[in-house]
Amino acid sequence: MERVASKEEVRQAVLAAKREGKRVALVPTMGALHDGHLSLVRAACERADYVVVSIFVNPTQFGPGEDFEAYPRDLDRDMQLLRAEGADLLFTPSTASMYAADAQVEVAPGPLGTLWEGAIRPGHFAGVCTVVSKLFNIVLSDLAFFGEKDFQQLTIIKRMVCDLDFPVRVVPCPIVREPDGLALSSRNAYLSPDERRAATVLYRALRTAETLALGGEHDVALIAEAMRECVAEEPLATLDYAAVVDPATLVEPATLDRPARAIIAARLGATRLIDNMQLTTGA
Ligand code: PAJ
Repeated sequence: MERVASKEEVRQAVLAAKREGKRVALVPTMGALHDGHLSLVRAACERADYVVVSIFVNPTQFGPGEDFEAYPRDLDRDMQLLRAEGADLLFTPSTASMYAADAQVEVAPGPLGTLWEGAIRPGHFAGVCTVVSKLFNIVLSDLAFFGEKDFQQLTIIKRMVCDLDFPVRVVPCPIVREPDGLALSSRNAYLSPDERRAATVLYRALRTAETLALGGEHDVALIAEAMRECVAEEPLATLDYAAVVDPATLVEPATLDRPARAIIAARLGATRLIDNMQLTTGA
């Protein structure tokens, strides 16, 4: 696996792969890779002939007081993991090369970017949309792989690709979890042992919602309330939101008459975790 830092080198490498008739995939990440990221790389290797992984801790998607500086970084380990998966090219741009000092134009996520995570992290999805647009334009891959773990991000990226006619196909990948249900996240590394134990409350709340839905409960407000009650029983957790939403509009439906998504965000000490689960209606 080759590692390149300049846009020109990525473009050349991808052009060469395309000339050989290869189908090209991009897996955008911020590094500190875990099995969730690697599942995307695996899916990309299955669906494409040339797999580009980007590692860039994107400053514009972190708000003031968030964990940009503390965000875990371990490039040597990441490179070993990516080699073992058979990725073809690692793109590690510098911040200076991604953002000109006089840059002005951003990609606005629209109303989807103001809900849920966007309400708590203003500007976050503009940062995500802008950097992902740039990566799409730099790499020009045929496919791009995103995890359902960041469900709102996935919904917004799909919308962006559709609305702005990016010539790329977004491939969603399922959430990878620890054996006890906690969704893998680079931020899990921040948790103390007690917080780590308590962190399963997100998964437990989602399973509560899933069980209610499968049991035929159609009352969305009642399902969301059951999730909130579940989190309230965990003293180390503080809920930011728990809701049942339409997967495309992220708005809460009145009743559960079609597949929906349960979404949840909570803080364990200083660490914010998010998770989600598809809800299918029972009888
Ligand atoms: P990052 O948090 O590093 O995640 C990179 C990709 O891995 C995202 O598509 C995310 O949804 C996916 N992912 C993370 N944990 C996962 C899990 N447990 N199971 C499945 N997929 C998982 O998301 C970002 O980076 C950034 O916002 C980025 C898109 C790279 C733009 O900067």
